[in-house]
Amino acid sequence: MNDPAAVADRAAALRARLEDANYRYHVLDDPDIADSEYDRLMRELEALEAAHPELVTPDSPTRHVGAAPSREFAPVRHPIPMLSLANAFSAAEVEDFERKVEERLGLRDPLFSVEPKFDGLAISLRYEDGHFVQGATRGDGERGEDVTANLRTIKAIPLRLRGRGWPRVLEVRGEVYMPRAGFEAWNERARASGGTLKPLANPRNGAAGSLRQLDPRVTAQRPLAFFAYALGEVAGGALPRSHSAMLRQLREWGLPVCPLVATAHGAGGCLDYYARIGAQRDGLPFDIDGVVYKVDDLAAQDRLGFVGRTPRWAIAHKFPAQEQQTRVEAIDVQIGRTGAATPTARLAPVQVGGVTVTNATLHNADQVTRLDVRVGDTVIVRRAGDVIPEVVRVVPELRPAHTHAWRMPSHCPICGSAIVREEGEAVARCSGELVCAAQRTQSVFHFATRRAMDIDGLGERYIEDLGEFGYVRAVSDLYKLSLDDLLDMKRRADARDGTTPETVKAGKVATKWAENLIEAIDRSRRTTLARFLYALGISQVGEATAKALANWFGQLALIRHLPWPLFKLVPDVGSEVARAIGAFFAQRGNQQVIDELLARGVDLGDLHAPSPKLRGGLDLPSVLACLEVPRLTAVRAQVLAAACPQLHDLLEADQHRLVAAGLPVEVADAWLAWRAEPAHRQLLRDAVAAAARLQQALPDVAAAASLPLDGRTVVLTGTLATLTRDEAKARLEALGAKVAGSVSKKTDFVVAGEAAGSKLDKARELGVAIWDEARLLAFLGADGTAPSRDHDDDQT
Ligand code: IVH
Repeated sequence: MNDPAAVADRAAALRARLEDANYRYHVLDDPDIADSEYDRLMRELEALEAAHPELVTPDSPTRHVGAAPSREFAPVRHPIPMLSLANAFSAAEVEDFERKVEERLGLRDPLFSVEPKFDGLAISLRYEDGHFVQGATRGDGERGEDVTANLRTIKAIPLRLRGRGWPRVLEVRGEVYMPRAGFEAWNERARASGGTLKPLANPRNGAAGSLRQLDPRVTAQRPLAFFAYALGEVAGGALPRSHSAMLRQLREWGLPVCPLVATAHGAGGCLDYYARIGAQRDGLPFDIDGVVYKVDDLAAQDRLGFVGRTPRWAIAHKFPAQEQQTRVEAIDVQIGRTGAATPTARLAPVQVGGVTVTNATLHNADQVTRLDVRVGDTVIVRRAGDVIPEVVRVVPELRPAHTHAWRMPSHCPICGSAIVREEGEAVARCSGELVCAAQRTQSVFHFATRRAMDIDGLGERYIEDLGEFGYVRAVSDLYKLSLDDLLDMKRRADARDGTTPETVKAGKVATKWAENLIEAIDRSRRTTLARFLYALGISQVGEATAKALANWFGQLALIRHLPWPLFKLVPDVGSEVARAIGAFFAQRGNQQVIDELLARGVDLGDLHAPSPKLRGGLDLPSVLACLEVPRLTAVRAQVLAAACPQLHDLLEADQHRLVAAGLPVEVADAWLAWRAEPAHRQLLRDAVAAAARLQQALPDVAAAASLPLDGRTVVLTGTLATLTRDEAKARLEALGAKVAGSVSKKTDFVVAGEAAGSKLDKARELGVAIWDEARLLAFLGADGTAPSRDHDDDQT
């Protein structure tokens, strides 16, 4: 494309398409283009702009990138001050607010705009002639800080307004926040980084800290988003006459407005909204700390005016605090299933967000040191969503005299084995393994949970008893329990507790319980590879990683003998996780437990060939590169592989030969030093052999069209009669499908069960294919095996 006009046209077309995609994603929440397509268009535009710098516009979608760092933030005077809201904490206070509004306006049951109160950072965005020119923090309300460069990196903030009719000057106010998913993902990355990245305390601090970065390139890495909820200065144009219409207008101009915003009549309507949003709170994708009620009529807002620094026309109705103050009565150590020793604060009971909290996690010894939490301290505890309550900080003013800094005990409180902390590890562990009743109980408990092997009715107390009386030492022992064993155990436990069952009825109850449990254990034998891997309780392997391992390798036989570097072939599995998985399978005891599980009838119903996507990672240079040999980069690994195409050469070649082949002397020396370790030589042999085994197990290229539902997006809705939601999801995923939560144009088909609701309507509206349960079952194959390719063609 050399014609300058054609190039300019193409750049303009790409910009329009990308802006539209951003709008659909961030504002309408209804993306119409695949991520990969978006990336491709973005790269094309970047390339065009790089080749033709004269075509770059300041608000091109490529400009959501971090600019160079600055030394400080310039002050910005807000033309209209950024005020705050008065708070209500009870229904009575809301009714009081409504009554005053009614009296002042002389009308009944006013209409309110009702909105979530977002827990982020208030900012003001200034648009002139539709272009984003400046963004500022709230500061003291009169003057804030210029954080324009940071705000430009947030993709949800349009650099240019859409449509037409915007005023010449338009200041949009709203909240920058960090979505929970982004926050979790960030912290997972931070934990895996081994200290390079710092974990964030909560999404709010995450948002605030990110905006206060002097280097916008740092901000650009953070997952931030934005919701508009108010206006500042407006000049040279007209706006709608109500707040709710104004928000709709902002949405049309391309600004994200929270979809939970609504209107309500009177205090009654407001309180209903409060209850409705409160019920959804834990499941929302972002943090909120209440709701806000605003008189909807803007002229009425003007008449009501302000008292001091808060408007009379709005009030924030706060949810019960998720942070509370209480006293630490003791600091215990809890032993988890992998032996991890977690310091836990025992607290004077306190209500946090409507739940009584008596324990809070302190995560690990470093955290206790960092916070300097001591027995007797008064602390702030936080409970957010359904996560375990945690200690946020100590209130130093309230520390009593004569306290002592806490230290991790040297021995396990349960089994007495030494507690050890490996070099560079954050967690200390009990070294007792199977000797340790706590580890045994926790690992069996985890094994039995619903999302693992799903053994109904096996509570923690029974597991403890089964361990205590010697029936279950390892998870595989569950599958050799007999009815008599269970009844025996029950009798012994009753005798120990002095609760001898005297009546015939109690005996019957016990028999029923034992029969049910045996049946549940039996049912759990039929499972999937992903569930099985998750159930093993490998440290660092959660459900998502277990699924990824199952999808990529397909077979337990391959996975259980893989040397650790090859686990890194799975996207998102880093060095640390890969080593943890390798270490688990390297233990003889664990291999033995797996053998026993299989011998006792555990049946992985969904084994398949490894993913053809592995192919690229199995050649010799890739295998060498993943061994983490010092100085051996990917490029040098290629040189090394070319010099030493056979394992024998790799093990024997001397410095002269390596250097002659083009390796820098220090790299050759690093290789020789690494190779000198017997453990490394073994790892090299194992990795090369395992790569060859994997290569052989790959499906041949013709079949590599792979899984029947590869690349398909499916949505489940309603209740299925024969499968739980999780089972249906797992079966579809095993066939390569992506199971999504909401219906869009990208959805390939919707499986609708009994009482399907809005998702079914949406599917009909968009003309997405709809399957009933019978069709799904036919597709999955009555015997649970993958369907033939004809079925596949049938559903496109
Ligand atoms: S309106 C004049 N709406 O709450 C009032 N504020 O205490 C302008 N906030 O600084 C604010 N969600 O950071 C408004 N839906 C919402 C809000 C909201 C969160 C925050 C904002 C403001 C503080 C006021």
